[in-house]
Amino acid sequence: MSTQDFAELQLFITGPTFIRPEVREAGLLPEFGHRDSENNKRFKPIMENLKKLAGCADDYHTIIFNGSGSSAMEATVRSLVADGETVLNVSVGAFGDLYHKMAVVNGKKAVQLKFAAGEAIDLGQLEAALTEHKPACVTFTHNETSTGVTNDMRAVCALIRKHGALPLVDGVSLFGGAAIDLTGSGAATYATSTQKSLALPAGFGLLFVTPEAVEKAKTVTNKGFATDIVGQLGRASKNQTLTTPNCTLANQMCVQLDYIVHTEGVDKRFARHLQMQGMVHDFVNSLPGFELLAPEGHRSPTVTAVRVPAGVSVADLKKVKEAMRAKGYLFDPGYGKLNTDLEEKGQRVLIRIGHMGDITPEMLAAYLDALKPELAK
Ligand SMILES: Cc1ncc(COP(=O)(O)O)c(C=O)c1O
Repeated sequence: MSTQDFAELQLFITGPTFIRPEVREAGLLPEFGHRDSENNKRFKPIMENLKKLAGCADDYHTIIFNGSGSSAMEATVRSLVADGETVLNVSVGAFGDLYHKMAVVNGKKAVQLKFAAGEAIDLGQLEAALTEHKPACVTFTHNETSTGVTNDMRAVCALIRKHGALPLVDGVSLFGGAAIDLTGSGAATYATSTQKSLALPAGFGLLFVTPEAVEKAKTVTNKGFATDIVGQLGRASKNQTLTTPNCTLANQMCVQLDYIVHTEGVDKRFARHLQMQGMVHDFVNSLPGFELLAPEGHRSPTVTAVRVPAGVSVADLKKVKEAMRAKGYLFDPGYGKLNTDLEEKGQRVLIRIGHMGDITPEMLAAYLDALKPELAK
């Protein structure tokens, strides 16, 4: 085997995302002991900078899980849904379905409210489901990566709270690319991961948790070990992870979050994402027969899903992917299962364009220029 065989592709998928050279180099920083003072040098600023990105303070605890976004999400289900209680899983796509699956396979009493691909959460239907099922917890996806739909976190959380339930939010593909203003959002937990808009390798699940959610977790039994947010918090409150962390990723994360907060600037980062979202919308609107999937007001700042013209097949999109690979890019030919379902029903299939993390407008412009002739074929 030769490392020369590994292609250097620029990733325009929806995670993992492009990693800046400085962050790659930070992977060479020294390993350290996770119960030593060297740990604090990395994780103290990491914890502080995560809160700056989230827009919260001491009103939320931060936990870093080994694993990925799913690890943080699963911990919320295990720790916050007690025996006999109902969890309502609201889904606007594949990742809303994933939260439901986590509840089901962990033996929770779970009911699902499902919206069609491309739709956002309808508050009227949510209210009816809350009234009918009287859940203790409600999960939903802030930014649905399979469809590029963003839900109104504040409005959804407010409605859930009105019915006395805890909102558990999946923010995996948004966090780091847009303001979430966690303080006052109503979210009891907010889960995310490193490999999307934070532009880091995968390896940690990140969770913001309110003290009220921690109090609830103390009353829940059978929380598991790594999925117990109370046990996790014991270590997190000392800026540590419960189990041995990936030191390489911790070094990279320390450097990257410092860059985001102190060099690029959080507001500039969010503005860059909006600029790139606008570029992608203009691109799609310039292509005859192509159409943005998400409705206006619910279009993601980090990922755009696009309906391709009728007659374009999943197989055609695989050819576009290979043509783009030859140009040095990794193209996203849509979320696999969703496209298979759409094709089977005779509906138009989708492509996605990831515009998150450390991709620059210049990189995106070059990508869209390279993609245009392939989509026109
Ligand atoms: C919205 C959303 N939720 C959850 C996940 C799962 O996250 P992870 O792969 O970090 O476990 C993903 C991954 O793509 C996602 O996009």
